[in-house]
Formats: sequence, structure tokens, C-alpha cells
Amino acid sequence: MTAAERTAFGVYVHWPFCLSKCPYCDFNSHVRHAAIDEGRFAEAFAREIATTAARTGKRDVTSIFLGGGTPSLMRPETVGSVLDTIGKFWRVAPDVEVTLEANPTSVEATRFAGYRAAGVNRVSLGVQALDDASLKELGRLHSAREALDAVAIARQSFDRYSFDLIYARPGQAPQAWRDELALAIKEAAEHLSLYQLTIEEGTPFFGLHAAGKLKTPDEALARALYDVTQDVCAKHGLPAYEISNHARKGAECRHNLVYWRGEEYAGVGPGAHGRLDIGCERHAAATEKRPEAWLMRVEANGHGVVTDDVLNREERADEFLLMGLRLAEGIDPKRYAALSGRALDERRIEVLREEGAIAVDADGRLRVTQAGFPVLDAVVADLAA
Ligand SMILES: C[S@@+](CC[C@H](N)C(=O)[O-])C[C@H]1O[C@@H](n2cnc3c(N)ncnc32)[C@H](O)[C@@H]1O
Ligand code: SF4
Repeated sequence: MTAAERTAFGVYVHWPFCLSKCPYCDFNSHVRHAAIDEGRFAEAFAREIATTAARTGKRDVTSIFLGGGTPSLMRPETVGSVLDTIGKFWRVAPDVEVTLEANPTSVEATRFAGYRAAGVNRVSLGVQALDDASLKELGRLHSAREALDAVAIARQSFDRYSFDLIYARPGQAPQAWRDELALAIKEAAEHLSLYQLTIEEGTPFFGLHAAGKLKTPDEALARALYDVTQDVCAKHGLPAYEISNHARKGAECRHNLVYWRGEEYAGVGPGAHGRLDIGCERHAAATEKRPEAWLMRVEANGHGVVTDDVLNREERADEFLLMGLRLAEGIDPKRYAALSGRALDERRIEVLREEGAIAVDADGRLRVTQAGFPVLDAVVADLAA
């Protein structure tokens, strides 16, 4: 059976610590000045995995993703212990994809061999920018040279690797982004994540932006930068398979596809989310976000879950639409109808099609066009209404 024919089941593990907090980031990441007790975390991960597996039963894990925060701050033994526990409580497919998110500093790159020995087979590096002035503005702790050196070590250590860049940065011009992207593609063998800078509420960037001290590209410039992204990547054989993710054919991140295709995944660690089918119901679970509070909950109860909602038909269908339309492959409207109990509105589809925002393929699949992606939220809202 090929990976595509199997039912996918992903496991997400969250490592919630970073060396410093980047001013644009609103992920669940925390800075601690005292040493982290990794042994205690490893035990808590093991308990939460055991509790989750008792709910799901034996499943065939097709992908594992260690995300953060900064999982490349974990000792390789801690990563190995988490992967061993997953193998103990579930079955792990022989061709499982195991991704670890890494920050591209020289210190972290020295651990890559240890991660590979522990079972990691793919790394995703947060390069963010390839020029030092932008890296400084983004509050990063590495230079462009250091990041490229880490990419080179990733290339030697793993068969598969990817890196992230943030674009639509303050003062970024289309030609400069074109050149930066061309350099990135030379370094990225098969996969790139390219995120448009989002000003997240509650971050230092939000305050600076509101005060007029951080000027981000206006809508027209942001659109031009998006078009450069699509153009350069497509020309180099890395088309978008998701609104922000580009890959050569077959090199897509299998774990992230689990989310976007509405498949099942368990979430482990502080602030992790999961989507599990238990009986005939889909459960949306989330754990306590604060690392120390999560630890205490797990030690007391065997898990850190604070919300566990059964999604009703409408919620399931809306989520399917929201996630699936991010993908270039789009969605099967028949699945939407099966989930929600009603078909998508034909007239709305027709209007969006005439506007050029969506396309309907010969096999009936519905997908957002390149022109529709910059207004994806509006397209989804229109279809879901
Ligand atoms: C969980 S984060 C980080 C992984 C790793 N800690 C790092 O920073 O290298 C995943 C990615 O989200 C992107 N990201 C985070 N905040 C963002 C924002 N406000 N706008 C756009 N992209 C963002 C960054 O590219 C980042 O690498
Ligand atoms: S971008 Fe990465 S390193 Fe920076 S605070 Fe967020 S998770 Fe941590």
C-alpha cells in the first residue's frame, strides 16, 4: 500500500521553549532562564502519549512532527525517548515521516546527527530571511551565513529538509525578494515554506505597527510580492501545493497534509491541538498552554487536555472547507456534502468561478485559483455562508 492509499494518522509534539522571543511571533513559545528539566518533560510526554493511545487504540502512525517553540533545543536523547514512546503505544509505519523544527544556529546544527540517530528523517529550518539587516529587524539570533551553513549541515544529515522564509517584510521590494528567493531555491532541495509577515495581536510588532513605527507593505505591494513568490517558485519546479508551501512533486510535507486534508492527528505537549475520531465522533482537543501548568496536569491526571469538544456536522464541514481550500488540490464537494448534510451552493460557486477565484476540475474537485488565494478568507466565508 502506498502512503497516499493508507489512512493517515499524525502525531504532533510541541516543545514550548525558545532562547528568545521573536517580536512577530505569537506561537506558544516561552523563554526560561533556568535549565529545563528535559527528563521530567520526557516522562510527561510519555504519560500523555499513553493516555491518548488508550483513547484511540492502536493506530498506524504515518507522520510525526516535533514543532515549537524550538524543538532543536531538545537533547537528542529526549527526542529519541519521545519517538520510542510513540512506537510503544502505536504502530509506526516503516516509511513514517518524522520532522523536527530547528532554528538555524551553529549550536543547533551540531545536534542534527543525534536527531537522525534518534529517528528524525526531515528537518524544517526557520531561516526567515537571507539578509542580515532583515534578520536583525526580525529579532533573530542567527546571521544569513550561519543559517546557510545550518542548511548545508541539514542537507548532509537528512534526506529531506525544508526551510521557512518570511516575506512582505518592512521595506521589502519585489526585485530584492525575487533575488532572495532565487538564492533560497538554490539551497532548498525540495520544499520551502514562504509566509507573508502577519502582524499578530499582542506581539511587539503589533504595538510598533499600531504606533506607525513599523511600516509593512500596503495591499498592492503585498500582492506584487505574492506574485513574485508564485512566479519564481513555479519557474523553478517548486509550485505551491498549499497557500504558503512549495514543493517538488512528491516532496510535500505529509504531516501538514494531514491537517489540510482533514485527517486525524493526536496533539501532545503544552498547547497542542488534536483531531481524533473516537467512535463516530470527531473530537477537537487542546492541551494547557503554559508549560509548567501542563506538566502538573499531566503528572496529576495523565494528560494536559483542557478542552475536548465533539464537532457537530456544520463545524466539521466548515473546518474541512477552511483547511482543504488552502491546498492547490482543493476539495471534493461530495465530501463536504457528506459531512454537512447539504451541498455547497451552486450559485455561489458559479459567481466565484466567473470572478476567477475558484475553478471546478473535470472530476468535480473545487479549488482556489492563483488569483483567488490572496482573498482566500473571503472565498471560504462566501462558500460556507
Ligand atoms: C513555529 S514557528 C518557528 C520555528 C522555529 N522556532 C523558528 O523560529 O525557526 C514556524 C514558522 O512560522 C513562521 N512565522 C511565525 N510567526 C509569523 C508571523 N507573524 N508572520 C509570518 N510568519 C510567521 C516562521 O517562518 C516560522 O519559522
Ligand atoms: S519564531 Fe520560532 S524562535 Fe522565534 S519565538 Fe517563535 S517559535 Fe521561538
